[in-house]
Amino acid sequence: MRYTVAAGEKIRADVELSLVTGSLAENCEDRAVLERCGFPGEDVAVLPEKGRIYVSIPSADPERVRRGIAKAVDAIWAWNVRTLWMEPVIGEAAGTERAYAAIAEGFELSAYRFDRYRSDRKDFPIEEVFVADPGTYGLGADREAAERGLAWGARLAAATNWVRDMVNEIPGIMTPQRMAELARGLAESEPAVTCDVYGRPALEEEGMNLFLAVNRASPLEPQLIHLCYRPEGTALERIAYVGKGITYDSGGLSLKPPEHMRNMKDDMGGAAAALGIVRAAAELKLPFEVHAVLGCTENMIGANAYRPDEIIRSHAGITVDVGNTDCEGRLVLADCLSWTADHVKPDRMIDLATLTGAVCVGLGMFTTGVMGTSAETGFAFKRRAETSGEMYTVLEFNDYLGAMNDCPAADVSNMPSGRTGGAITAGMFLERFVPEALRGQWLHLDIGGTADAEEQWGYFAPGGTGAGVRGCIYHLMELAVEKGAEKWQ
Ligand code: BES
Ligand code: ZN
Ligand code: ZN
Repeated sequence: MRYTVAAGEKIRADVELSLVTGSLAENCEDRAVLERCGFPGEDVAVLPEKGRIYVSIPSADPERVRRGIAKAVDAIWAWNVRTLWMEPVIGEAAGTERAYAAIAEGFELSAYRFDRYRSDRKDFPIEEVFVADPGTYGLGADREAAERGLAWGARLAAATNWVRDMVNEIPGIMTPQRMAELARGLAESEPAVTCDVYGRPALEEEGMNLFLAVNRASPLEPQLIHLCYRPEGTALERIAYVGKGITYDSGGLSLKPPEHMRNMKDDMGGAAAALGIVRAAAELKLPFEVHAVLGCTENMIGANAYRPDEIIRSHAGITVDVGNTDCEGRLVLADCLSWTADHVKPDRMIDLATLTGAVCVGLGMFTTGVMGTSAETGFAFKRRAETSGEMYTVLEFNDYLGAMNDCPAADVSNMPSGRTGGAITAGMFLERFVPEALRGQWLHLDIGGTADAEEQWGYFAPGGTGAGVRGCIYHLMELAVEKGAEKWQ
């Protein structure tokens, strides 16, 4: 979709969209008919003969704007229209770059479908969205701010949709090799991004035996993918995103039952999100040095599969007793976290992983779990990241849960001694592989519930959501604003 800020005169478009906060304005010409239909009690009102759609939203908060637009997009989908006109939403955030970014995000995210394999696919019909000039509404904002917001909102949403495509793609195609190809492609198209891919020999040389063990029964070579975006001028910080990239999780010899194996193509959602974060950071020219380290492999079965009861020495030198081969994500991540700490030496490290089913039980399917040695760092992340509209809950560590990872024969077990607190015990397993000096600046995001939507919710169709991308990018924008940046407000 193209976004144009329309100055002065109202543009005639095929569809007009009004987002209404609270009661209907006095000067609304459709007021009588809308009141007759019970609006704004009802949340969407379509007046087809006028080509008008009204959506009532509880407030002008950017997230309410995104969700309101999603409702309009649903209504418009089947229409034969090309252009849409909308007024700015009047409210606290009105006129800010972020208010306009939210408009573009709302359209781009809700107009996404994964329909490559459907014979009856139909694209969303709107090609151009005209947004009224904030100046003509006395919002005190300038047209350039509106244009900037629309532009970066659309780019951030496109990076998110790219991640959704990766998560939705079938597992025989979205292999570790395909992920490496996508990463190299990004580096080719973005001059500020570099990409290195390491295969089995490099992993052997580095002693990444946990990662290699998980890979053992797969016919596909594991890929450790390292991307780096360097901004022009001095970077405010060096940040590394480490992603779990299991392109299929069968469970290994501790095989998953059939109903749990379904959707395990999404087990690379963390790695895909890390890739999307680098793309968005580069396109938005954020003032941070951003690294992504993706640990990509399948977790399969076979005569040479790694077994429960093996004891394996990690890249960090810690020995791990394999209690369950389905706890593979923490093994791959453990090696990738210590590799990243060694080779990247970041100021801040954030991992993203579809790590546990337990996080779904604890938080539901709409919220990402935030964990780390420092709960304060977690709360600060939550405050900044939630300006994206994504939801985060901090799960605090404690010594009793941490001790559930202990075992008699090795330094640590990958299978906790009990089933309770599963999201936190997984997070505390990872913590052991983060060097102490970095622990206060390390966070683990468990996107087990959020990476993939079972059903349509908010602006998401069923399937991949790109969870983590917008949260991490808004977190960086907030950090930049706190350090004096004028953009992205
Ligand atoms: N990829 C799964 C976690 C998962 C399950 C994410 C369901 C999203 C939805 C992970 O590798 C796994 O299998 N974890 C096990 C751990 C358990 C055996 C301790 C789980 O959560 O069941
Ligand atoms: Zn698993
Ligand atoms: Zn997994």
